Amino acid sequence: MSLAVKAGTIALPGAMRHNSRMEPADPTDRRHDDGPSATVAEGERKVSSALEALLDFYISAGADGWLELEPSDAFALSETVPAARAAPAGVPAAPTAGPAARQMPPQSQPPQSQPPMRAPAAPAQGAMAAGAAVVPGDEVVVAAREAARTAATLDALRETLSRFDGCNLKLTAKSLVFADGPANARVMFVGEAPGREEDARGLPFVGRSGQLLDRMLEAIGLARGEVYITNVVPWRPPGNRTPSPQETEICKPFVLRQIELVQPKVLVFLGGASAKALTGVQDGILRLRGRWLDLPLGPAAQGATIRAVATLHPAYLLRSPVQKRYAWRDFLAIRAALDEASGT
Ligand code: URA
Repeated sequence: MSLAVKAGTIALPGAMRHNSRMEPADPTDRRHDDGPSATVAEGERKVSSALEALLDFYISAGADGWLELEPSDAFALSETVPAARAAPAGVPAAPTAGPAARQMPPQSQPPQSQPPMRAPAAPAQGAMAAGAAVVPGDEVVVAAREAARTAATLDALRETLSRFDGCNLKLTAKSLVFADGPANARVMFVGEAPGREEDARGLPFVGRSGQLLDRMLEAIGLARGEVYITNVVPWRPPGNRTPSPQETEICKPFVLRQIELVQPKVLVFLGGASAKALTGVQDGILRLRGRWLDLPLGPAAQGATIRAVATLHPAYLLRSPVQKRYAWRDFLAIRAALDEASGT
């Protein structure tokens, strides 16, 4: 759930409370005796770091907007947006949602020109300017599909994603968490979205869940460095909230394209969220885990499929260690599938 902070309500601790011109609260404070300007500079530095810490706190808590002191009619504002942002002619229509989404988007020839990095049509009043929040709509998903489809390599895809402004999560995340692992990995793991540690380091699964994942990999004879790890959503949602269905839809083409480009022998969904997002199967993870399916790679792969399975998310296992026995079964099955694929 989103939170909003009321403009003008930020309160600072006593000694750092300042007026609107950022003057020190007590100009007679001479504790460091460096003259008035040094005191002012020191006061401003403290205020600025206190404000940064406070903003960081609000963002981490899920605040993603300001409440203005004067109310504005958001419905009236949004009425101008759809017309201004209609998809241009020539952009393919979004495929219908649901099980059909199991079919991955086709891999195609790179285009002659640079792919669009934002939702297509020119926005009214700069609503889609770089770094500005967007109102998610189908045209953003179409733009994401087009951008992902035209990336011919993982490096190109990472670059494309770093320039893509269609997902508002980018505005609050510190970094793009693209992936970790070699392009020719035989097994690929897909989680839901990065957490705080991942956001800070720009790498997936490096926090506590990641450390557990590393140990689980080791238990079946896989080193972290030989597997490919990514997430459905590459930006940390504020406060670690669940990504919204729109955010997931917008980001999905990029993870599907990663699967197409890596073409692992075995694909593992870490947790129900990524399994549902990428297979369309709606069962809960406790029913879904351990059930293997053949995931079609899309028409360009000429009917090729990937062996895929869901298992329990390491974060869930940290909370419910008793469930590790099921994850252990899944990991043994993953090991067996890899051995089978290599004929050993
Ligand atoms: N949980 C996820 O789903 N992904 C990460 O990268 C970290 C934790």
